Amino acid sequence: MTDNKNFYITTPIYYVNGVPHIGTSYTSIACDVMARFKRLDGYDVRFLTGTDEHGLKVAQTAESQGMQPKEFADKISEYFREMNTVLGITNDYFIRTTDEDHKRAAQALWTKLLAKGDIYLDKYSGWYSVRDEAYYQENEIETREDGSKIAIASGTEVEWVEEESYFFKLSAYQDRLLEFYEGNPGFVMPKGRFNEVKSFVSGGLKDLSISRNSFDWGIPVPDDPAHVMYVWIDALTNYITYLGYPDMEGEGMKNFWPADFHVVGKDILRFHAIFWPAFLMSADIPLPKCVYAHGWWTVEGQKMSKSAGNVIAPQDLVDNYGLDQSRYFMLREVPFGNDGDFSRAALIQRMNSDLANALGNLVQRTLSMIFKNCDAQIPAHGDFTNEDQAMLKLAGTEMLEKTRKHLEAMSFHRALEDIWFVIGEANAYVDAQAPWGLKKTDPDRMGTVLYVLAEVIRNLALIIQPVMPDAAAKILDQVKVSEDEREFSFIGQGHRLKSGVTIDQPQGVFPRYVEPEEDAA
Ligand code: MSP
Repeated sequence: MTDNKNFYITTPIYYVNGVPHIGTSYTSIACDVMARFKRLDGYDVRFLTGTDEHGLKVAQTAESQGMQPKEFADKISEYFREMNTVLGITNDYFIRTTDEDHKRAAQALWTKLLAKGDIYLDKYSGWYSVRDEAYYQENEIETREDGSKIAIASGTEVEWVEEESYFFKLSAYQDRLLEFYEGNPGFVMPKGRFNEVKSFVSGGLKDLSISRNSFDWGIPVPDDPAHVMYVWIDALTNYITYLGYPDMEGEGMKNFWPADFHVVGKDILRFHAIFWPAFLMSADIPLPKCVYAHGWWTVEGQKMSKSAGNVIAPQDLVDNYGLDQSRYFMLREVPFGNDGDFSRAALIQRMNSDLANALGNLVQRTLSMIFKNCDAQIPAHGDFTNEDQAMLKLAGTEMLEKTRKHLEAMSFHRALEDIWFVIGEANAYVDAQAPWGLKKTDPDRMGTVLYVLAEVIRNLALIIQPVMPDAAAKILDQVKVSEDEREFSFIGQGHRLKSGVTIDQPQGVFPRYVEPEEDAA
């Protein structure tokens, strides 16, 4: 458990060389759920995302489109901002690596590493993938039939680079990194990924080329503007730029660093779990608490690519299936950390069974009964039976504590599984208590059962807010929970719905997914 009430979480900053799709949406949604959860749980949260705009690949792509790199970056960066709006992302700040304060921060970090004696000038010769903006060693590449070389891990083409370059003494950090990993078993999650990092570092680290002098689209190296910084040293610094680095005593760095989570895809783990910690050690800056590497999404079993024409844009996702539904699906379907497949059939199945049938039906039938049988008022309740008490307990602080525990480990699917267990129990409770049959025989008991259900629904709506903010708000509006009573401190005992409050005519929150009519054409 984090002991202070500040929480800092970051997505990777997105390459302006790409465009938003479900892969990038996924990282943002996951971070957004964490940020919303923590805010509702009483934390002061900083949630950062943004765009990574320098490097050879961006310069080349801009040129191929007849644009200046900055003009191109402005355009694509805007797409990522739009993605945030479409997906309901509540980032506190959107950083761009072309921002002036970021340039200053990256140069300050460089100067620190230089002063430490960790940077030297030499000549780089080796393999480089422009697509990945990454250097590869001989044993990490293979030759294709046509003679071209590719990086085995990513399948992207590599080219031979020979140029003067500044180097960072990464090799000097091998032991310190291994020692740090040993002392911080939660530094990389999931565990399997941590083992990969450890074995890579144990295998020996080579010094890292950290500047280029054959193009100029980057942050100039202090005192040697013929060189621009390697895009990764520039990009990684974004996490502290936002907090006001190099001002280590300012509110940002003092209160929010080290970050609680850097959330990244598994493809960029090495940069975050090896290079970044080594830079930070060199600069005497504390290391982040956790780097969480999530898995990779395919679409209907295929790798997503422009050429395969299967890239799913966030807007299409939301237009076709709804925002909350998409957010729920991505976090529920696949354990965070595993690879996942985006299948339309699986999404529709979740929409209909988990959302429409399980949660939607619970809310709809309970509120309809209250509306029809209780004069549209939250009923008064009599003494609670053991079953009533068990139901209230399950959906109260117990549910909150479990969810909290799962989210500490970013285990979204477990959290949702447990919440849906409560929903299942609540539906079983409705069936067992059969309140519709009590109207004539025992209206007081009917009132108590419906009260318990309304209270369970209130708690459920509160806890699902981070994942499904719109649906949760609609439910809370219907049971008249005021906006200032929606934090998690209102879950469970001590805070209950008031009897006698008039509710709105119930409106379905999760419609069943019905296949749209085929186009006549
Ligand atoms: N610019 C770097 C990050 C620098 S952070 C200091 C970068 N950008 S990216 O746009 O290529 O990728 C951003 C994130 O999206 C990465 O975490 C990556 O893993 C994730 N995804 C991109 N495609 C993805 C899938 N198909 N599936 C899941 N996540 C994927 O890397």
